[in-house]
Amino acid sequence: MRILLLSNSPSKWMMRISSRYFSSIELPKFYATPIFYVNSVPHIGHLYTTIYADALHRFTRLCHPDAVTIFSTGTDEHGLKIQKSAQSKNTDLSTYCDQVSAKFRQLFDDASTSHTHFIRTTDNQHKKSVTNLWNILVEKGFIYKSKYCGYYSINDEAFVPDNLIRTNSAGEKISIETGHKLEWYEEENYVFRLSQLQDQVIDWIDNRLIMKPQNFHTALKADIRNIKNFKDVSVSRSKSRLCWGIEVPNDNSQLIYVWFDALTNYLTVAGYPNHDLTVWPPCHVIGKDIIKFHCIYWPAFLIAAGLQPPNLVYCHSHWLYDRQKMSKSLGNVVDPFDCIERFTADGIRYFLLKEGTPHSDSNFNIDAVKTCLNAELADTFGNLLNRCTSNKLNPQQYYPQNISLNEMNEILPESMETIDYIQNLSKQCYQAYSDGNFHIGIAHVMTGLRLVNSLFNIIRPWELPKILNNEINQKRLECLLFLSLESIRIAAILLKPIIPNISTSIFRKLNIQPEFCLWKSAEMNVTQHELYSHHQQLHVNRISTEKLIIFSKLI
Ligand code: MSP
Repeated sequence: MRILLLSNSPSKWMMRISSRYFSSIELPKFYATPIFYVNSVPHIGHLYTTIYADALHRFTRLCHPDAVTIFSTGTDEHGLKIQKSAQSKNTDLSTYCDQVSAKFRQLFDDASTSHTHFIRTTDNQHKKSVTNLWNILVEKGFIYKSKYCGYYSINDEAFVPDNLIRTNSAGEKISIETGHKLEWYEEENYVFRLSQLQDQVIDWIDNRLIMKPQNFHTALKADIRNIKNFKDVSVSRSKSRLCWGIEVPNDNSQLIYVWFDALTNYLTVAGYPNHDLTVWPPCHVIGKDIIKFHCIYWPAFLIAAGLQPPNLVYCHSHWLYDRQKMSKSLGNVVDPFDCIERFTADGIRYFLLKEGTPHSDSNFNIDAVKTCLNAELADTFGNLLNRCTSNKLNPQQYYPQNISLNEMNEILPESMETIDYIQNLSKQCYQAYSDGNFHIGIAHVMTGLRLVNSLFNIIRPWELPKILNNEINQKRLECLLFLSLESIRIAAILLKPIIPNISTSIFRKLNIQPEFCLWKSAEMNVTQHELYSHHQQLHVNRISTEKLIIFSKLI
């Protein structure tokens, strides 16, 4: 497998990977999650966004172990929503933000995410970056002062256009999209000339943006076609209403709009305004509810400032609880800390990425978590490891090697289809993961492991010594162990973005050197076949005595 660094394409900060399987697919070097509101403690949906981005980041690092990558996450701490939350708890604003932000940080550490940056919008460096971007947009004539009025949703921190407003039975104005209550605002604000950037934003959405999965891109394109004229957007709030935010430069009566502030976090992470943007643009991972901000406002701000808008956005749908939207008022919000305690970090990561479908909403249910983990991590993956490391079948605790395909074909002909499947797994997973479809990649790996498990039932190795204690049977057993252990090694590589801790324990247990734990090594190490002639020797032949349970069965 060869890795080329591109230098002159619009996506120069992406890496191109080429191998005998796939000609060229690019992977970014900078992944970013949205930053999380600190108006309340994290829930399972927040954890999903970060784990999803983490899996993409880990996948990139597995493919490009020498690349320097960025993975940022953090907290969004300004605005009316946070201000009201702190006030309702009678807590001083900055103490309140510190406490809730620390919970998010703790959660991501507990969930083994590989973030390199945790940004807070209350950081001084970030404030400089927001002020700088603001000044540039003022200088370029994209921000002006004007009277602004409309219905505002505090929950969504956004004005809502007339066509997306309904009146409920109590006569209150409600956002059709989010169901949140609206308030009428009328004040003098700074306004951003979104209307002037309409053509450029549409051109970017149509021709430059890659958005996965496709259904969100199609819907976005249809939505923007329906908007005849982009309206300018208010980008500040009067201090008479809001006290918690970044001040508008040279006007201490106004604070910068929380979404302008929050979106700029990606620039802050990249070193703006102090350093050249050596790693830019980021690849965004967002939930479906914040597409408008990332795919209309954000590229518009960047284009106006003369900066490159992002070219890759992964969007995901939401987790429901028992098919209902999670909400504090319904009391059905799933606590991610509880989940990690019950199912371990890898367990909950596995469930969320295996059962979560980015294109449509998924349903969270405790029994479904148990069933999934028992069937797949314990009974399939764990069972295979137990079988080929058991003292009965593998008394010498060794990892056979140097078996050629021809030999496998001769001695264990019933394994050929399975071998073929295992040899194709990394290609299948590469495609699925780079499309953001972890559920598809994981399903392929599980199918591979099930195929190997069923070979045990066909070959019944526990009967081999009894039937005939001869060389052929010994060889058959050796071939089966080789195929099984290689499949486990490959599955541990391909699932490393999903279950990093389990994969690391497997590599340790099987005594595998680091270069055989990388994506490029996720093929069976078979020899004497022209396609595989470049294979190096796999220096593992002893399995460690460490007791390893991939996953303890849940009852
Ligand atoms: N602060 C803004 C983002 C600013 S980024 C410049 C925000 N914060 S949020 O806390 O409300 O949401 C953060 C992420 O969590 C979003 O991607 C959102 O889609 C995701 N989720 C919130 N609830 C969710 C589910 N129930 N399921 C899956 N993800 C969900 O928006």
